Amino acid sequence: MPLTIDLITLFPRMLDGFLAESILGKGICANLLDVRVHDLRQWTTDKHRTADDRPFGGGAGMVLKPEPVFAAMEQLQTPGCRRIYLTPDGAPLSPAVAEELSRQRHIIFLSGHYEGIDQRIRDAVIDQEISIGDYVLTNGTLAAAVVIDALSRFIPGVLGEEKSLTHESFTGKLLDFPQYTRPAEFRGMSVPEVLLSGDHGKIEKWRHAQCLEKTRKVRPDLLKHQQS
Ligand code: ADE
Repeated sequence: MPLTIDLITLFPRMLDGFLAESILGKGICANLLDVRVHDLRQWTTDKHRTADDRPFGGGAGMVLKPEPVFAAMEQLQTPGCRRIYLTPDGAPLSPAVAEELSRQRHIIFLSGHYEGIDQRIRDAVIDQEISIGDYVLTNGTLAAAVVIDALSRFIPGVLGEEKSLTHESFTGKLLDFPQYTRPAEFRGMSVPEVLLSGDHGKIEKWRHAQCLEKTRKVRPDLLKHQQS
């Protein structure tokens, strides 16, 4: 059974290229995941297709109205499905969060807009709130794409080789080592000798040292959480 993902957004065309291309597109073709993008406005009922309104209590910006979102959820949700709202004030996305989501059968993402959404949506039809980082996007649609991409990599068969997942940054809490391919010499820049040596023990040691050095330079905060 493929993982079914519904995405409710005011900007459905934003993800056309993203869903068609690359590894994710292949996963969709291979029936490993089924992503459906929905225009929230199809659940509006007035002639202007209004999805937002001014905030009670005053303040700048507009707030997503409850009626179309409730109608969308009621039509799309299935028993046990996970309903997720993308928001900068949600819990941070992590590999563990992505992995847990990859094991679901059905996920509904709601992309937020403007100054926010009516709190009753969050209280009644949202199970989980996710942020992709401490910055504010103009809407949550790209954030949903990031979460979909991150979780899809944990679905067996989406990545060509299973091992390419385990060797990567963050899974071992260190940043990645540098990679090289042919030619061994390019415009006067040569590949480190050790990688051409064929000595796998030496290569492993070198790579580990590179990981540590890179992490120390770029993300010293990760080293504080290391066991050894
Ligand atoms: N919507 C706007 N900014 C966001 C963020 N950083 N994460 C998730 N959803 C968002």
